[in-house]
Formats: sequence, C-alpha cells, structure tokens
Amino acid sequence: MNVSGAAPRPGEIEEPMGITALAQIRPGMVLAEDVRDVNGRLLLSRGKTIAPEHIRVFKIWGVSRVAVLGARESAPAEPPAVDPQRIEAVRRELEPRFRHTDRRHPAVAEMFHSAVLFRAGGEPPFPPEPELSPAEASGAGRLPRREFLEGFMEKEIALPEISSIVFELNEVIANPLSTADQMAQVIHKSPSLTALLLKIVNSALYSLPTPVDRVSLAVTLIGTRELSALALGLSVISAFNHIPRRVIDMRRFLEHSLACGIACRLLAAQKNLRQTEQLFSAGLLHDLGRLILYLFFPDDMLAALRTARREGICLYEAERRELGCIHAWIGQVLLKKWHLPLLLEHASCFHHEPEASPDPLPAAIVHVADVLVNALGIGSSGEILVPPLRPAAWEALGLPPECLATVALQTARHLETMEFLLRETLP
Ligand SMILES: [Fe+2]
Ligand SMILES: [Fe+2]
Repeated sequence: MNVSGAAPRPGEIEEPMGITALAQIRPGMVLAEDVRDVNGRLLLSRGKTIAPEHIRVFKIWGVSRVAVLGARESAPAEPPAVDPQRIEAVRRELEPRFRHTDRRHPAVAEMFHSAVLFRAGGEPPFPPEPELSPAEASGAGRLPRREFLEGFMEKEIALPEISSIVFELNEVIANPLSTADQMAQVIHKSPSLTALLLKIVNSALYSLPTPVDRVSLAVTLIGTRELSALALGLSVISAFNHIPRRVIDMRRFLEHSLACGIACRLLAAQKNLRQTEQLFSAGLLHDLGRLILYLFFPDDMLAALRTARREGICLYEAERRELGCIHAWIGQVLLKKWHLPLLLEHASCFHHEPEASPDPLPAAIVHVADVLVNALGIGSSGEILVPPLRPAAWEALGLPPECLATVALQTARHLETMEFLLRETLP
C-alpha cells in the first residue's frame, strides 16, 4: 500500500485512498491518515483498523470525514434535511427565550443559530413549565428579604453529607508536591468513585491511546490536579441526587449542570487551557447555590420562580428581588465553607458577573458555557430564559464565534456519553 504519494513500484498495485464521510465508515476499514479532533489531538493513527468504538469516538469529537485505504472519494455528507417549516416553528419558539440577550452580538447570533439547528434536528419540544403552587399569603417560614444572605449564613443547615474523600482530594489539589500515588490512594478509598473514574477516563470523552486499568495511570495521563478536580466535582454533585422533586426536576437540573461542565471543558480546550477538568467541575457546580435554595428554602425559591414568570425576567434577577441575593453568592458561601479550591470558587460563583471575579477568565468560561447551554435548552436549573451574554466575558475568551457551533454539537454528544456513564449515579 502506498499512502506517501510516491509512484508505485513496478508490479505494485496502488491501493486507492479516499476521504470518506463518517456515515459510510465501517469497522474493519484501515485509516490512510491520522484522525485528529478540532484541537489537533490525535484520536487514531494511520494504518490502524477502525473498530466500532473508534467510530463512536469520531462522532463524539465532531469528525465528519476520514481518509481510508481501499476507498474511492465519497461525496461530502449532506447535512440531514430539516423541514423549513420545522425550522421556522423552532425559531418562533426560541425567540422569546432570547429576549434578554442581544441577538445582534456575533456570539449570541451563533448560539441562536446552533440552538435552532439543535432543536429542529429531533430534540423534543421544551417540556411544559411545572405548576407552581399558589403563593402563601402569610409568607410564613421565609427569611426577610434584606437579611436573607446573613440569615442563610447564620442558619444551621444540615448540608448533605459530603464524603470525606472530597476534603482529602482538596488537600491533594492544594499541595503542589502531591504525587500520583498519593492521589490514587485517596481515590481507592471509595470503590464506586474508582470504578466511575476509570469508566469516564476510558470513555470516548478522553480517547486515550491505551486502556487504563489503574487510577495511578489515569493520574499520570490526565494530571494529578485535573483528575482530583474531576473526582471532587462528581463527589459533590452526587451528594445531591436524592432531592425531592417538589420545586425542581432534579434530572433536568443535573442535565443542565453536566452540559455546562462539558461546555466549559470544551471551551477550555478551544482556548488551549490546561485546567480542562477543573473547569468541568466548576461548570458542574456553578448552580449549586440554587440547589441549596430549592432544598432548604423552597418557599423563597417558589416566590422567585413566580416573580420570574409573572414579570418575564431571568430567574437570577427574580432571586435578587425576592431574596436580596443571587444563587451564585449562596454557592460561594458553601464552597468557602467546604474549603474547595479557589479556582472552583472564582469560576463558578461569578458566573453571572464574571468581570467581578478575582480570576476573570475561568469565570468568563463558565458564564459563556451557561448562556450556551440555556440557549440550547439542555436541561434546566429552573431558568426558562437565556441569560444575557456579557460582551466583556466573550471578549476575554478571545475565541471566534464560529467555534460555538462545534462546542454546541460536541456538548450534546458528550452529554449522551456522560449520562450513559453516570446512569447509576443520576436520579
Ligand atoms: Fe446560575
Ligand atoms: Fe446555570
């Protein structure tokens, strides 16, 4: 076989090579060229035989065409035709959700376009908004608006049990001299976390060159601090998976949180940042404060939800009016209380005002990811509108608006994989 482009020697039959659309790729075909993702990361090298799991990896990383031996050039894959009437119906459904963000901004325009294509391509319509029980006239049980945050800090709340591993992981992250073995020893204390991490690390999300069967090897490949941050985020969020569904659909809440974490990770990769897993965890935990409000202050949250619906404002604005503070500040109190890493605190607690963060770039990434996931309508933390995109946050990222289409597509695909891997952990 000749893939170098040199003329075949006498007697040698040149095997044809063709760029083939992914839909036509079958297991057993042999790669004529390396396959890389949008960031140039090697997914599978040339000469390798394609297996079914490779095809899944290519799909997840948005590879649309690959070069295989023995194939003739195939026509570029036509995007699936979507009924123009369906597109129009989706546009009409989405427009009111974007009322508070400027659609003339190039990044918002790209998010709107991606959202239309995403929802027109087979996504079920938005679920009906849950019924809100009528307001209680007395407001009994609610803290006075102005003192809400103070009252919250003073109120002795029995927070969900955070496993002691979280604190140990925290120490590993904080100590620059931590070794892969020390980190692995902490993880091994929880067999379920060990199994979950190995499943995630071996999944198409990481597409590592060889299977990983030991945590210490996963740490070496992904990085001590990064794998610790991933384990920490997963441990914190799993402590909340038994919340009753009185005011929030927990499944949709976790979908929103996971999608935001995944979008953060993808945006960080687009920016070539090394802290991809820390940003995944920051995205995963960004609305933690809202979870606490739903859990411990359901009457206050119901009041905020009613105000948001009645006045057509974003939920965080309604929280500001009803509680005198927003969920991100509550989240900050918790992360401080648990002594979680500063990057997590600065990135997740300033996601509605990233410019105020002591570390604005990670906060800007969580902000953009949250706006994107709300635009796509993947899950919900109770918000039904798209929060306004802060132009300064978008500029801080320094990414071209077109990259949002790729991030949107990959977020939806990675979420499927992540939900599959977490199916025993999710409610
Ligand atoms: Fe939020
Ligand atoms: Fe959010």
